[in-house]
Amino acid sequence: MRHLLFIEASPRGAESWSRHRAGERLKEWGGPVLRRDTSRDAIPPVTAEWIDAAWTPEEQRTPEQRELLALSDRLWAELEQAEEIVIATPVHNFGPPVGLKAWVDQLVRAGRKAKPGMRARVFIAAGGEYSARQFVEPWLRQVLKYIGITDVEVSAEATAGRTLAA
Ligand SMILES: Cc1cc2nc3c(=O)[nH]c(=O)nc-3n(C[C@H](O)[C@H](O)[C@H](O)COP(=O)(O)O)c2cc1C
Repeated sequence: MRHLLFIEASPRGAESWSRHRAGERLKEWGGPVLRRDTSRDAIPPVTAEWIDAAWTPEEQRTPEQRELLALSDRLWAELEQAEEIVIATPVHNFGPPVGLKAWVDQLVRAGRKAKPGMRARVFIAAGGEYSARQFVEPWLRQVLKYIGITDVEVSAEATAGRTLAA
């Protein structure tokens, strides 16, 4: 059975609203889950050398360039072997948290596409009504479309200071 890839972005651990909401989908899934917590396990930003490596044709890459792309390759393998991807993220200053942005930057590479039929479920938590969907939802939809994932459902919630128990 293929796994569900769970991309977590909130630094708030078990207190995280977005993580909690996504947990409901994980329960429904009931199969193997591969978790990648982009807040806890920092993903490095891309560098000039990384960009050069990514644009160098595969057969011409040096061993150093292959090493630079090793994490990106691993993130692709995690995605390609998944049946569904679930992304749980808060809104931080109108955009995604830095860890989720770093995951996207490491992942997106020219010509690399997810396998057909991949589903994505996205859970966004914001503090206020206005920014619940601003920027993060359209950004994530565009990223997912760009890598070939079109079966996307987004649930965005304004938590407005409520606690998980409320
Ligand atoms: C650094 C930081 C920046 C935030 N920026 C915004 C924002 O721009 N808009 C908003 O509506 N909420 C903002 N919030 C509130 C969070 O999005 C909100 O509390 C959300 O429910 C947190 O999700 P989580 O519990 O999954 O971490 C911010 C919170 C933090 C810690």
